[in-house]
Parts: sequence; structure tokens; C-alpha cells
Amino acid sequence: MIERKEIIEVLSGYDLNKTTIGVLASHSALDVCDGAVEEGFSTYAVCEKGRERTYTEYFKARRENGKLVRGIVDHADVYARFNEILKPESQKKMRDMNTIFIPNRSFTSYCSIDDIEDDFKVPMFGSRNLLRSEERGIEKDYYWLLEKAGLPYPEKIQNPEDIDCLVMVKLPHAVKNLERGFFTASSYDEFKQKSEALIKQGVITQEDLREARIERYIIGPVFNLDLFYSPIEEEMSRIELLGVDWRFETSLDGHVRLPAPQQMTLNQMQITPEYTVCGHNSATLRESLLEEVFELAERYVRAAQKYYEPGIIGPFCLQTCVDKDLDFYVYDVAPRVGGGTNVHVSTGHPYGNTLWRMPVSTGRRVAMEIRRAIEQNRVEEIVT
Ligand SMILES: Nc1ncnc2c1ncn2[C@@H]1O[C@H](COP(=O)(O)OP(=O)(O)O)[C@@H](O)[C@H]1O
Ligand SMILES: [Mg+2]
Repeated sequence: MIERKEIIEVLSGYDLNKTTIGVLASHSALDVCDGAVEEGFSTYAVCEKGRERTYTEYFKARRENGKLVRGIVDHADVYARFNEILKPESQKKMRDMNTIFIPNRSFTSYCSIDDIEDDFKVPMFGSRNLLRSEERGIEKDYYWLLEKAGLPYPEKIQNPEDIDCLVMVKLPHAVKNLERGFFTASSYDEFKQKSEALIKQGVITQEDLREARIERYIIGPVFNLDLFYSPIEEEMSRIELLGVDWRFETSLDGHVRLPAPQQMTLNQMQITPEYTVCGHNSATLRESLLEEVFELAERYVRAAQKYYEPGIIGPFCLQTCVDKDLDFYVYDVAPRVGGGTNVHVSTGHPYGNTLWRMPVSTGRRVAMEIRRAIEQNRVEEIVT
């Protein structure tokens, strides 16, 4: 793990008046860039060939005498593969541009976490060591942290033979790189039947199935809580709720738009939905549930500080389901910008806007924090 003092040394060579906000061009990059330009920063997107034009062309920035008149991406590089961002010359370029880098899930998926921890010598907004907690199955993964935090999560079923209620079986997709091969089952028989069919179809593998996490399926809506923790706030709450989003997932959302008799006619290849995220929507919560949301956030932040020092810095996302008794269950935690924050890009969200009295998305809030840290000479407290 690159020590924080090494990063602070890099920072000491920076001209923070010329800070660039850097991001891997995918996931939540538009929100991050939009927020950054709104707060007066220039932006730098590292793209992968074949998927770059959103950033290099369609949302490219145009400035007249420094004033932004269109778009949000000031600078971009296009590499053959995303992980070329790790090359020494790529890193040097970022440092030369006084880049503060905002990690997202694409960054930790397309680059190895070992490399990010040990070799990526660019100041990152957030906690470098927490990124790994997202890898389901490692020793101190997010479930471990939730347990330590005393937070409710869907109960784990140790063996498929023990399935006695609806469960979610979590394992990777066999061919669609980085996607899910999740399926549901409500008995051991159904588990066997479905997993055999999915193995036959090449959707999952026997090896992955052995390692799969089986957990109780929470019957209720999904709320991704887009939260923020400010370590440099001295007077007001350090925890903020900026927004709530939920996902469009294919093919699940297509299934639920079919009448039940039609669902029953789907053939073997179609009958088991996949859970591939392809969009997001915005939501609010019943007001009496907000108190609970803040309690979940408080506990997660405290546990992260205790077990993953220095703990959460900036944005994080608790992915929850709410059951019929209005109890929250946290089924996943993103210790970085959530994947759904483009729902509030530029327009903000009822909660973020209410708090800050102007349009505040997660990207904007990130940039506000960096701006404030620069003004107060405290950037070393928000980077690792
Ligand atoms: N225990 C659960 N009960 C009900 N739905 C769940 C549960 N766990 C996950 N899901 C559903 O599966 C989707 C993906 O789950 P998640 O654990 O976030 O996977 P990933 O980490 O790959 O994003 C969620 O959006 C949610 O709809
Ligand atoms: Mg998730």
C-alpha cells in the first residue's frame, strides 16, 4: 500500500491553483466532470479506445477566454486499454497536470486493486485501502465491515441444501466480463435445477457456483443511498445524504413488465432474468425513514474509521432493500462514488439541493470538498 505520506509528498510538488480533476472515463465520470467544472476546475478523462467519444467529442468542453460555454471534459487521453492509466508515463502526466483523481468502480474493475494500492502514485480523493472491501469474498470484505458496524445485511445461507426461503445466489457471469450471473431460488431443488440450466447455457460455471454467496432475498424496493462524509467539516454534520437512486436492470425489468401468464411462457433461455445494470432513476424516501438512513451512515462511517483507517472520505453508497416491516438491509457498499449518481448530474437531487441551497450532485459535492480543502490548506486530509 502506498503510504499516505508518499502521496502528500507528491502533493507538495503540486500547484493547487491549477488543480485538474481526473477520472477514468466511464461509470460516474460525467457527474464528476460536471461538478468539477462547476466549481472552477479543469477536467481530465482517461478513455479506452472504442468507448471514448462520449468524452472526447459529445461532452467535450469548449472555453472562451477560460469561460466554459459548452461541455465538461477539458482534456482527454485515449488508451488502448483502461489499465494503461497505471503506466508510469500516464501517472507522470497526471501529476504534471496537478491531478486529483476520483476513483470509480470502472477504475477498480479495469485496473488491478494491487496495482492501485501499490503503484498508482497520484493523489486520490478518498481512501485507497477501502476500495478492496468491495471485492465480495475476501477476508475483510464489506460484509465483514457491516458485521463489525452492527449494520443489517441479508442473512447468509451456508449451504445450498439449507435453502428454506427465497434466496439470491451471487456469482459472476461466465462470459460477460464484469457482469453478474445472479439467480434466485426458493428451495434446494430449484437451486439445483436452475444452476444446472445456467451452467449448460454457459451463463455461470461450476467453480464460481461453489464460491457463490447465497443470501436471503429481501422482498422490497431497492434504494441506493448516495452519501457523503466530509472529514474537514468542523461545525455541521459531517454526514450528508445527497441523493437516492435505483437501477434499471436487464433483463429483470423486462420480465416485470410482462403479465404473469406471459412470463410463464418464456423458454429456458429467457426464463431466468439477468441483473445487468443499464440505467438509473431517482427516488426519495418516506420522510420517517430518513432517520434510519443517517443511522446506517453513521455506523458505517465509524466502522470504516476503526477498521480501515482513515476511513471514508467523500462519497459512498449504501445499497439497500427495504422489507415489509420497513427495515433496511444493506446488500452492497460502494466506498466511492456510487454508480447511479448521473441521476442528479447538473440538476442535483432533492436532498443535496435542500442541504446546499443550490444544485448539488455527488460530482459537485466532491469538487466542493476539494475546493474547500484547497482554500483551507487541508488537501492532505482528503487524499490518500
Ligand atoms: N439480498 C438481496 N435481496 C434482494 N435483491 C438483491 C439482494 N442482493 C442483491 N439484490 C439485487 O441484485 C442487484 C445487484 O446486487 P449487488 O450485490 O449490488 O451486485 P453488484 O455488486 O454486482 O452490483 C441489486 O441491484 C438488487 O436488485
Ligand atoms: Mg452493487
